[in-house]
Amino acid sequence: MNSSLPRTILSTISPYSLAFKRQKLPISTRVSGPVSFPSISSIPSSQKPRIPLFLRPPIFTTSLSDLQKWQQWANNLALSVGSKFVDSDNGPDTNILCREVKWLLEDAVEDKSILCQLVSPENGKLVKLRADLDELYCLWKQRIEERRPFQYIVGCEHWRDLVLSVQEGVLIPRPETELIVDLVSGLVLEEEGLREGIWADLGTGSGAIAIGLARILGDGGRVIATDLSPIAVSIAAFNVKRYDLQDKVEIRQGSWFEPLEDVKGELAGVVSNPPYIPSSQIVGLQAEVGRYEPRLALDGGENGMDDLLHLCEAAALMLKPGGFFAFETNGEKQSKFLLDFMTQKLATNVHNLEAISDFCGIKRFVTGFRR
Ligand SMILES: C[S@@+](CC[C@H](N)C(=O)[O-])C[C@H]1O[C@@H](n2cnc3c(N)ncnc32)[C@H](O)[C@@H]1O
Repeated sequence: MNSSLPRTILSTISPYSLAFKRQKLPISTRVSGPVSFPSISSIPSSQKPRIPLFLRPPIFTTSLSDLQKWQQWANNLALSVGSKFVDSDNGPDTNILCREVKWLLEDAVEDKSILCQLVSPENGKLVKLRADLDELYCLWKQRIEERRPFQYIVGCEHWRDLVLSVQEGVLIPRPETELIVDLVSGLVLEEEGLREGIWADLGTGSGAIAIGLARILGDGGRVIATDLSPIAVSIAAFNVKRYDLQDKVEIRQGSWFEPLEDVKGELAGVVSNPPYIPSSQIVGLQAEVGRYEPRLALDGGENGMDDLLHLCEAAALMLKPGGFFAFETNGEKQSKFLLDFMTQKLATNVHNLEAISDFCGIKRFVTGFRR
């Protein structure tokens, strides 16, 4: 067991084995402090955003020695897993789980510097916590015994330079999706028409891509983010507010382009990471994914491409001339199919079609421009 390994581990298998990743953030990008949320009373309680652990007030107190007992218990549970989860569905192993114990502690304590004293706690020394110790016991049991994803336990995921609130009902953003923002970043540096234009992030989930885009566009650029899921809309709005981007990101509920009729033919860019898992493969997913993440975010129909095909066809009409699109896919097979489809059926509307590889060299994204 080595829980002091670097905090970034990328899944090399597939985006739908859940990658475990934490980055050390520059302090200036970490948004903290009191959280307020507009018109929250109109949101049903099941869809209300839960405050991530690291943002909760440190109102609980325990002794350092009791926290040490919790840490030993949690690490022992992690050790008992061995390679059981890896063998059954490519889930997390003991090393990853021990690292999560460390991250959970970091999010739970008010003062992280106290954690180095856990090795030999001073008698009677107290520590302030953001959740009481009973809740921490309960959360870690859920992690190991029920395979509840770590990100839902702590209520957040580190993605690019952001810490995004997530909870059941909303997809946990994956590392490979970060590349969509990088692709756009390169383009908008060179093209004012794209930098200052209207972008759409379709199926925004936690708002990850929309927020990433909003931070690289020019002063005149803005993003419209859509999702069919009311809870995704609620969490995306929460994250947009936390990053103070309400003037740049507008969230609209509805199916794909339906809420965008007013900007038809005017979009500078369209990006999406839609559901693309073939329906028959959902049962074989890692337990953390298949049991907990929303089917609406995963299931792309019989061959996984129901939504991708719709997006490719509609993007050709929604973009302005010169507008850019980028869609995430399941990998080589889907990317190739979509490129062939667009070359044969949409060539009068789109050009410069490409399949772009992810960090693992898998052709993950299809991109192109409106003529
Ligand atoms: C794979 S998730 C991606 C979420 C987020 N963009 C990300 O990358 O983390 C797909 C998203 O599409 C949304 N979705 C599914 N069907 C939709 C539809 N017909 N219209 C709009 N959004 C839809 C889901 O609710 C989910 O948030």
